[in-house]
Amino acid sequence: MTTHPTTPFDGQKPGTSGLRKKTKVFMQPNFLENFVQATFDAIGGVTGKTLVLGGDGRYFGDAASQVILKMAAANGAARVIVGQGAWLSTPAASNLIRQRGADGGVILSASHNPGGETEDFGLKYNMSNGGPAPEAVTEAIFARTKVITEFHKLDAPDVNLEMVGESHLGAMTVEVVDPVCDYADLMETIFDFKALRGLFHEGFTMRMDSMCAITGPYAVEIFENRLGAPKGTVVHETPLPDFGGMHPDPNPTWAHELMAEMMGDNGPDFGAASDGDGDRNMILGRGIYVSPSDSIAVLAANAQLVPGYAGGLKGVARSMPTSAAVDRVAAALGIDCYETPTGWKFFGNLMDAGRVSLCGEESFGTGSDHVREKDGLWAVLMWLNIIAARGQSVAEIMADHFVRFGRNYYSRHDYEALPTEQANAMLGDLRARLDTLKGTSYQGLTVESSDEFSYTDPVDGSVSAQQGFRILFEGGSRVVLRLSGTGTEGATLRVYLERYVPGPDGLGEDPQTALAPIIAATEEIVGISARTGRQGPDVIT
Ligand code: G1P
Ligand code: ZN
Repeated sequence: MTTHPTTPFDGQKPGTSGLRKKTKVFMQPNFLENFVQATFDAIGGVTGKTLVLGGDGRYFGDAASQVILKMAAANGAARVIVGQGAWLSTPAASNLIRQRGADGGVILSASHNPGGETEDFGLKYNMSNGGPAPEAVTEAIFARTKVITEFHKLDAPDVNLEMVGESHLGAMTVEVVDPVCDYADLMETIFDFKALRGLFHEGFTMRMDSMCAITGPYAVEIFENRLGAPKGTVVHETPLPDFGGMHPDPNPTWAHELMAEMMGDNGPDFGAASDGDGDRNMILGRGIYVSPSDSIAVLAANAQLVPGYAGGLKGVARSMPTSAAVDRVAAALGIDCYETPTGWKFFGNLMDAGRVSLCGEESFGTGSDHVREKDGLWAVLMWLNIIAARGQSVAEIMADHFVRFGRNYYSRHDYEALPTEQANAMLGDLRARLDTLKGTSYQGLTVESSDEFSYTDPVDGSVSAQQGFRILFEGGSRVVLRLSGTGTEGATLRVYLERYVPGPDGLGEDPQTALAPIIAATEEIVGISARTGRQGPDVIT
C-alpha cells in the first residue's frame, strides 16, 4: 500500500522562498506529505526523474528527508542525491542540481528564521536550472494543495543518510554524497586560491561566524583547510538543530557577537557571517560595516580583479528595494542593470538568458551566475579576492568607492509580527492615496512620484504586480514599503530608506542620521507609529 487518502490543509501557499511554517505545523500528520505530493503533481510528476535533497540541518530536517525519500520512491523517481546527514547549503544544492543534471531539488530550510521544535521549518522546490521555482510553478503547487485527495509514500525502513554511498528504496536509488566537496571545488574554479593562501600566509586575520548553521563545514573546509587560515577562524562552525539558540540571520542585530568583535579595538582585518541555509552574507572590515546594497556595488566595480569574472560582467541585477548604488557602477561600466521584485527567483531568467553575471538584494543576498541561488560564502570569497588583489582594507575600499560613485545612504526598518489586518489596512490606505502624493511636501521633502512596483520579466513576459510601494522625493531620496513574504507570524512591514549624496562632502555620516528626514517624512505620510502604536522598528539593518 503506497497510496494514502488525505484532505487539504489551509495556508500551504509558498511565499518569497518556499513554504515556511512553525515546525510543529509541518510535523502535523500529512502536512508535509500533502505539500510534497502537491509539488510533485505540479511539476508533472517525478517518474524517472533525478532529484537533489538536503537542508540546513535544522530540527525535523532529517525526519522530513526520510518522508520525502519514501514519497519520491512511491512516485516513481529514479534517483535522489542527498547530502550526507541530509545536509546541503542552499547554494551547494543549487550547484549539485546543475552539476549532476538533476531535474530539480527539494531544500529543507527556513533560511534565516530560527530553528527548533518551537521555531520555524520550511521547504522549497528548485528547478533543473538550480534556481527557485518561478511563480507559475509555486501557484500550481498551491492550487494542488487545495484539492489534494491522496499522496504516495513507500512503507519502508529509514535510509542511512550518515554514510556516503548508494542504496535502494524500492526501485529508486538513493545516493548519499559529501555535501561540501563539489561546492568547494566550484569555488576553486572562480577565485584565485593561490593569492588567498598568500593573504592568510602573510597574517591576514578573519573571523567567519557560521552561526551554528550549515556553512560551518563549508567554511572550515574552504578557509581553514584549503586556504590555510588558522584553526578557529570559523566560529559557531557546527550546525545544530536549533542553531544553538542563535538567530542565524547575518545582520548587525543578530550577529551581534561578530559585530562587537569587529568594532572592538583589536578586531580582525575581515569579518563575515552567513545565515541558516548559507545563501546570505554580512561583510565587515575592522571597524566598518558594509551595507549589502553597497556590497553588490563594490563587487560589481571590482569583479574584473577576480579570475571568474576577468572577462567582464554581462550585466547586473538588484531587487527593487535594494539601493541604486550598483546602478551607478553599471552605468560607469556600460552594462545593463535590471530591477526585479524581491526574491532571488526573479534573477534566474536573467542569468539563464545570459543577461546578468552578478545579482544582489539589500537583505544580505549576493550572488552570481555560478549557481542560481544567492551564495553567502561566494560573497565572502569575492571580498577576500578583491582585498588580496587591491592590497587594501575594507575601509579603504569603501572610502574609495564612495569618492568615485557617491554614496547611497541606506537602511531597512522592520516592524515584525504586526496584526495582519492592521498592516493590510495601513497599506490599503496608502494604495488609495498613492496617486495624490505627487507634489506634496513632508519635512521639506517634495514627492516627485509614487507608484506600486510591477515587474514584467524581459525574458518570458510574465507580470508580477503589487511588489511594493515606492515614494520618490525630489533630489533622489526615496522610501519603499512592502510586507514580508517569508514571515510566519502576523505581518512584517519592511520600510526601505535611501538617500543619495554625490560627494565629495557628506560621505561619512551615520546612515540613520543621514536618513532622518526621510524617516520623519514616511511617518507623516504612512503613520506607522500612529497606527501600530510601535515606538520604532524591531530590527534596523
Ligand atoms: C526576504 C528578503 C528577500 C529575500 C527573501 C529570502 O523576503 O527581503 O530579499 O529574497 O527573504 O531570503 P521577505 O520576507 O522580505 O519577503
Ligand atoms: Zn537563506
